[in-house]
Amino acid sequence: MKDLSLMTNIEDLRRVCYRNVPKMFYEYVDTGSWTQSTYRENHTDFEPIKFKQKILVDMANRSLETKLLGKTAKFPAMTAPVGFMGMMWADGEIHMARAAQKFGIPFTLSTMSICSIEDLVEAGVEPFWFQLYVMRDREFMKDLIRRAKAANCSALVVTVDLQVLGNRHRDIKNGLSTPPKFTIPNLINLSTKIPWGLRYLKNRRWTFRNIAGHAKNVSDLSSLSSWTKEQFDPSLQWSDIEEIKNLWGDKIILKGIMLPEDAQLAVKHGADAIIVSNHGGRQMDGTLSAIKALPDIVSAVGDKTEVWIDSGFYSGQDMLKAWAMGARGIMLGRAPVYGLGAYGEDGVTRALQIMYDEMDTTMAFAGHRDIQNVTSDILVPGTYPTPIMG
Ligand code: GLV
Repeated sequence: MKDLSLMTNIEDLRRVCYRNVPKMFYEYVDTGSWTQSTYRENHTDFEPIKFKQKILVDMANRSLETKLLGKTAKFPAMTAPVGFMGMMWADGEIHMARAAQKFGIPFTLSTMSICSIEDLVEAGVEPFWFQLYVMRDREFMKDLIRRAKAANCSALVVTVDLQVLGNRHRDIKNGLSTPPKFTIPNLINLSTKIPWGLRYLKNRRWTFRNIAGHAKNVSDLSSLSSWTKEQFDPSLQWSDIEEIKNLWGDKIILKGIMLPEDAQLAVKHGADAIIVSNHGGRQMDGTLSAIKALPDIVSAVGDKTEVWIDSGFYSGQDMLKAWAMGARGIMLGRAPVYGLGAYGEDGVTRALQIMYDEMDTTMAFAGHRDIQNVTSDILVPGTYPTPIMG
């Protein structure tokens, strides 16, 4: 394993990722939609939240261990379903899955991944979670569910905030596609990313392999925006969630909930967990940051389902703040993806270790040894968001 001890925070990994990965894929990950105000606030809204520092209590033998959908996890985290993950590093989804699972947390495969469900099974990764986008072509969607079952996927994450695509200026300007089209600007950029490109010579996986060869009537699979317009179902409704839950017949997680009333509907429609998320600021811009949306949702359904969160987590300190405010799991997207783009599997492991250590040490400073005993008591009253929607 590579010695990455000088990568001391997620920002270090982000910088290496930026150098290694072609611009269009790096910017796909590291941007938000429209003005990017939500993308920014997802991160900056953590800063005003302050910890209490507690001294001279026994801090030996600490544990961040918890349960996610009944299964033990080393800390309250799971990796997010990220589209194009396999364009950050060849076979990126396999590297991410191996690192997450060795670390002791769940991995989630995106519908819009490069490696397919079957590629992961063939690579011998353990059962993983599968994220579903609901398509107009319901037969294709049913087939995806059937394939996820055949792969023994242990939970289905249904993304409920992407019936239409947020306006992502960078992706449009970069002509985001996979494989990249050989335009002059792309060729110039790719010529500076030779090690990245050489890794693809072996596997030649550079299309959306969950879809290619499986879906019918696909005119342009290379572009996410045209594929979304053509295939994603803008008419998706709560009744569809019930149908999906019945088809799947197992644990279902709804990702993309920002309102307490929607959280209540999610519970009513059988969600085993929900993820408070604005899609990392990539969908609706100008909405609340995820951390500000969390308190209302915890107060509405925190005792009825597992409430998790994503969007804007680049530090274990921020994970601890979210836990203290009632989130029982934190889905990590960009942080491990920067690790992946920087150093493959080793980089993901490093990113997870950084997040873990930051969460663990901060818990110690706050005077706790077991995450299960941590509540909002570790936060300074008045500095953290509380319910605002009533
Ligand atoms: C897909 O999930 C995306 O945000 O592009």
